[in-house]
Amino acid sequence: MANPTKIAFLDLVTPHQELQEELLAVVKKAFSNAGFIGGPMVEDFEREFAAFCETKYCVGVNSGTDALRFAFMAAGVQPGDIIVTVPHTFIATTEAISQAGANIAFVDIHEQTYTMDPEKLREYLETRCEINPKSGELFESDSKRRIAGIVPVHLYGQTADMDPISELAEKFGLFVIEDACQAHGAQYFSKKDNTWKLAGSMGKAAAFSFYPGKNLGACGEAGALTTSDEAMAQQVKMIRDHGQAKKYYHDMEGYNGRLDSIQAGWLSVKLRHLAKWNESRRSHAHAYHELLAEAKDAIVIPVEASWTKGVYHLYVVRVQEREALQAALAEAGIGTGIHYPIPLHLQKAYEQLNYKKGDFPVTERVAAEIVSLPMYPQMSEEQLANVAKRVKQFASLQMSQA
Ligand SMILES: Cc1ncc(COP(=O)(O)O)c(C=O)c1O
Repeated sequence: MANPTKIAFLDLVTPHQELQEELLAVVKKAFSNAGFIGGPMVEDFEREFAAFCETKYCVGVNSGTDALRFAFMAAGVQPGDIIVTVPHTFIATTEAISQAGANIAFVDIHEQTYTMDPEKLREYLETRCEINPKSGELFESDSKRRIAGIVPVHLYGQTADMDPISELAEKFGLFVIEDACQAHGAQYFSKKDNTWKLAGSMGKAAAFSFYPGKNLGACGEAGALTTSDEAMAQQVKMIRDHGQAKKYYHDMEGYNGRLDSIQAGWLSVKLRHLAKWNESRRSHAHAYHELLAEAKDAIVIPVEASWTKGVYHLYVVRVQEREALQAALAEAGIGTGIHYPIPLHLQKAYEQLNYKKGDFPVTERVAAEIVSLPMYPQMSEEQLANVAKRVKQFASLQMSQA
């Protein structure tokens, strides 16, 4: 018999059932005119998502990975250039760097926010790099490679601390491409400009993923680039479409990286619900914060820095005995995840970068202790309380054994 208290890590069925009629109408519309690639549904979504992110342009593409890769190419990355990012992210961030012909350099994350630590970035740029007096460009001292740009990742739905990152980028003439794949609708308070800004509107461009489990998810693969730079938007439009600005006139080699019309239509339907869904996630997160407060000696809950309004793509706690907590929750029918267990600098795929254990201690500590608890808009109060109850039971057992 199914466990009646079972709480899935993620429920993708309920929102699609709730919106079934509207979603099926999109398919009918596409069938009626066989407009499967490009066309009005893609253009409508691009306009709507640009407005949502408060940018001038949005270019729909196949995935968040494509959006990153195309952004780097359009930003003028040259073979061998370095792009700086964090080792605590999904591998797509760094795959896109390599696939654009660039090299990866890592800087550590901040212990509380899990996003790029601006001080570690400063240390890398100021002590491990130097300016070429002739070109004025920044080079890594050891490898002599040019530093092209920075990719802050707005992980778990919280923005990176963008003011100091942007200031360093400006000082050294580097581009900033935001990895906003987990942060649709997240906000950042810029002290410099004395205003709240949306994820996706702060860099030269930003990449979003619409992978089904994201805050705004498609019903398949999809992604988008947002920017207020017209030349960047035009270039990415060409790159996503085999390098053509006009049919069969190819200015360059590009990719088959377009966004399907049906996915765009579905995204438009769901975008109308995104603000409400994000509010639900925030309110669930605050409920978890309160419910778990008394277990604070054993469980570290997420910290929302004063400069961010997070959209809680994931609710990630830290605990010493991570596997034991996961097992206890699994026993109670509660799903969990780990985002991400192995830091990128220690992945087999990056052996050739010659990083070693101990190079990014904050990332390594965090990666060993994190657990993502169930978090989605449709969770009930009862479900949240049930998860928290089980986590607290585990914590008190741990403390009594300590
Ligand atoms: C931080 C981050 N960057 C990039 C991506 C890549 O997006 P996609 O899966 O749409 O290619 C993802 C999504 O999984 C992500 O979470």
